[in-house]
Amino acid sequence: MSGLVLVTGAAGRIGTWLRGGLPERGWAVRSLDVVPVPDVRPGEEQVVADVTDLVAMVDATEGASAVVHMAGISGESTWPAIRHANIEGTFCALEAARLTGVPRVVLASSNHATGYTPRPDGGLLREVDAPPRPDTYYGVSKVTMEALGSLYVDRYGLDVVCLRIGSAFPEPTTTRQLSTWLSPDDTVSLVDAALTTPSPGFSVVWGVSANTRNWWDLSAARALGYEPQDDAEVYAEALIEVHGEPDLGDQVHGRVGGEYTTAEFDAEHFSA
Ligand SMILES: NC(=O)c1ccc[n+]([C@@H]2O[C@H](COP(=O)([O-])OP(=O)(O)OC[C@H]3O[C@@H](n4cnc5c(N)ncnc54)[C@H](O)[C@@H]3O)[C@@H](O)[C@H]2O)c1
Repeated sequence: MSGLVLVTGAAGRIGTWLRGGLPERGWAVRSLDVVPVPDVRPGEEQVVADVTDLVAMVDATEGASAVVHMAGISGESTWPAIRHANIEGTFCALEAARLTGVPRVVLASSNHATGYTPRPDGGLLREVDAPPRPDTYYGVSKVTMEALGSLYVDRYGLDVVCLRIGSAFPEPTTTRQLSTWLSPDDTVSLVDAALTTPSPGFSVVWGVSANTRNWWDLSAARALGYEPQDDAEVYAEALIEVHGEPDLGDQVHGRVGGEYTTAEFDAEHFSA
């Protein structure tokens, strides 16, 4: 499969990686963000629009083969802000795909949809063993994202792949990220697999690199055709020297959502 992909949140960190990497894999990219992308590339189309504007989203989605929905608030915030950008935004992305007949949507979910889930005591955690257990309003928006995706598959026959992204950064910066890191190249590979795999229906997969310290099971992502190449372990010595060995008994390392499960993420720290 190939064709034109609408990437929302294109000016953001992951959007920027996708704008670089997807064309190398044969996809044409139409970039959408509420701010202009700074460096439009040859062959790239650009739309400046708010993802919560359904009319604009329908216009932007026309003629695409797929939507990769990355736009939104990418961490904890106030309830009104999360509700608007993340929940309304996801509805508009899916509804625009339905209205324009675009058959596939890839959604940027998060490990924080399941953040209060205890980390497994040995072994690997499968997606099916981590049902919704959000750690923040942000996590609730990702649970809602997965629920909306499921609805649009069952009711309207779309293909929707939800990526429960771990920590997508240029490189890991904490000892938790030795387990949760998703590298830039592997991010592109994962999205490409989600776009290419035949008839996924509704699928939810962890988004993480091939880290030695992984405790998320990558079988479902690999079944889509994802072949991660990177391993955070090359950063382990330097990070452990600064931060010490991860204590698996503490809250940050003992739960899927890490620091998002701590009191620092209580609502009063995010008041309007
Ligand atoms: N980076 C990670 O570690 C990580 C982990 C889990 C999930 N995710 C999810 O992946 C997606 C992308 O993450 P990122 O790290 O690139 O975030 P980012 O904050 O760098 O980028 C988000 C982009 O969305 C745009 N945006 C926000 N509201 C918008 C709106 N209403 N309309 C149009 N554009 C809007 C912003 O302008 C920004 O360019 C987000 O949905 C995030 O929740 C990221």
